[in-house]
Amino acid sequence: QRRVAILLSGGGSNMVALARSMTGDHPARPVLVLSNDPNAGGLTKARDLGLPTAAIDHRPFGRDRTGFEEALLAAMAPHAPDLVCLAGFMRILTPRFVGAWAGRMLNIHPSLLPLYPGLHTHARALANGDAEHGCTVHEVTEELDHGPLLGQARVPVLPGDTPDTLAARVLGQEHRLYPAVLRRYAAGDRTPVRLP
Ligand code: GAR
Repeated sequence: QRRVAILLSGGGSNMVALARSMTGDHPARPVLVLSNDPNAGGLTKARDLGLPTAAIDHRPFGRDRTGFEEALLAAMAPHAPDLVCLAGFMRILTPRFVGAWAGRMLNIHPSLLPLYPGLHTHARALANGDAEHGCTVHEVTEELDHGPLLGQARVPVLPGDTPDTLAARVLGQEHRLYPAVLRRYAAGDRTPVRLP
């Protein structure tokens, strides 16, 4: 079984979906939930699920991204993860960290990449008048929100949508897509997942 560390910064609903999916004959299991925010709601949810947690507050490190990342790696090491899933982890990682996990780190992004890398994806899709929107799981490479696509899920944009209503619709698909991709990926299959 592949050992998975899940990194998050916020509420952790994707972490919950991933952790709950890793049961039975699943080729992976969660070994650590790690946050850059000691107060992240996702840490509480992880503890409720009985998962080991750790927090490395990025703020005391200031601009010292390398120092922050060394601390992340040190927190991860005792749990010996094989794979890293970024699940709403809102810190940009340096090429050094990304390189250390090349081919072993996934991210979920709330847009149909290559559309809308970066922030405010739902507002940008609405402003552009898009008829559909969605989410993407990809392998993490040095360039932010790029890297080989491992799966996408689409949702319609509906009349009257706001960034919040659209985000909620996308999030529902994120919870289906990320577990589906991880199951394949952990088994060594990188064929992209298409949902619905
Ligand atoms: C998710 O929508 C995820 O795609 C997004 O943050 C949210 C986290 O929600 N990630 C990014 O924007 C990454 N740049 P969650 O904490 O409930 O899983």
